Parts: sequence; C-alpha cells; structure tokens
Amino acid sequence: MSVDSGSHRVIVVLRPTVSGLDESAARRMFDAVRAGTDADVRIAYLDVASPSLHEELDRAHTDDVGKVVLIPVAVPRDRYLLTWTSKAVANWRETRIDAELEVTLHESETLEGAVAGQVIDELGAAGKPITASPASYRSPAWSVIEQHDRHLLVCKGPRCMAYGAGPLHRAMSAAAKGTSSKVTGTGCLSPCNLGPLVIANPGGTWFGHVDAGDAEALVAGQENQLMDHVLDR
Ligand code: FES
Repeated sequence: MSVDSGSHRVIVVLRPTVSGLDESAARRMFDAVRAGTDADVRIAYLDVASPSLHEELDRAHTDDVGKVVLIPVAVPRDRYLLTWTSKAVANWRETRIDAELEVTLHESETLEGAVAGQVIDELGAAGKPITASPASYRSPAWSVIEQHDRHLLVCKGPRCMAYGAGPLHRAMSAAAKGTSSKVTGTGCLSPCNLGPLVIANPGGTWFGHVDAGDAEALVAGQENQLMDHVLDR
C-alpha cells in the first residue's frame, strides 16, 4: 500500500493479549514499519492499553491531519478487532461532529501467509534450549493476596477505553499508591453504554460515567461524592 506522507497519518491498530501488552514487540514492529515508509505512523489500541483509537483520532484532528489510514494488525485475523475498529471510528465521528477527518480502513490479506513463511523458516533454525525452572511457574509471590481493604475493578474494554477509561485507570492507580485500595483493570463488563465503569468491593457498588476527576473519591471510598454515578443493578 502506498501512502503519501503529506497530510496523511497511518495508525496501526493492535489489541493486547489476555496476558497484557508486549510493549517491546509492539515497539519493534512500529520501528520496522517506520523504517520502511515516509508516512507518519502511530499505534493505537482497541482496548486495554493506551493510546486508544479515540485518543489517536483526536490527536490527528488536533494536528490538522487530513486523512487517517487505519491498519488493524492481528495474526491470525481478529474479526473483533476489525469490526470494533470500524465501530469505534463511527462513535468517534458521532461524538466529534465538527471534526473533519477522512478515515479509511485497510485490511491486509497476506499477513497469515507472511507469518506462515516465518514459521516455516524457523523449522530450519536450531532453536534455543528451554532452561526455565519449573519453580518459576509457581513463584511464592503468586500465593499471596495483596493486602487491601478496598478493591476497584476498572473496565478497560474497547467502549470504556473510548470513553476515557485509560486516563481514569491511570489516575486511580496513582491515587491508590500507598493506600489500602487495590485497582485492577478488567476486560468488558458488558453494560458498555454506561462506561467508563468501576466496580468497588466490598459492597459491589457499580459506578458509571466516571472519569479521572472521580479517581480520588473512588479510591478513598468517598461515595457521598459519587452519588450521581452509582448504578442500579
Ligand atoms: S467496554 Fe466497559 S463495559 Fe463494555
């Protein structure tokens, strides 16, 4: 695909795995793409990690970019990544009505073939002996429940990330440092339209439409400051 670097920007859209994000691998791929093109290339994440697609589209708009080319990358193909990238753009357009930005989606038809070629090449390589100790599979640290008296689950699914869960999670993690509150990011909790969503335990109170400005009250359990955000179950 040729992309003229004029006012175009390329955003490679990724999804972290269930184990999180291998940032160094994402960075390696990003650097390799940038080395092969003059285009202005960025990375965005559909869910879990930042920057979200909304944040990168906002940045493109602020930077006066005329056209954004989105290239979702997953091997094997991730239908969810493709469909929800399109839906995220539709939501971005609906919520930024004054933003004029042409956005196109490119789907590589050859990624699996390229990766299959790499797998076949590996068959001829020597490989590395596996020297990991089985003890590393059952580290004592994984038997310890971190002491806490308040546990906050922050949804980092695709819709909540689009609505600001990235800054919210960062602000809550910062507010929880040195306290007895524990903050854990989760995948989609399902009532996405009410996001960003937080569940506070004990009590199991659900909070909706919260943002980074609510972080301290959420962490400290100042629920009297959050009454407008408490959701009926
Ligand atoms: S993405 Fe948060 S509830 Fe679905």
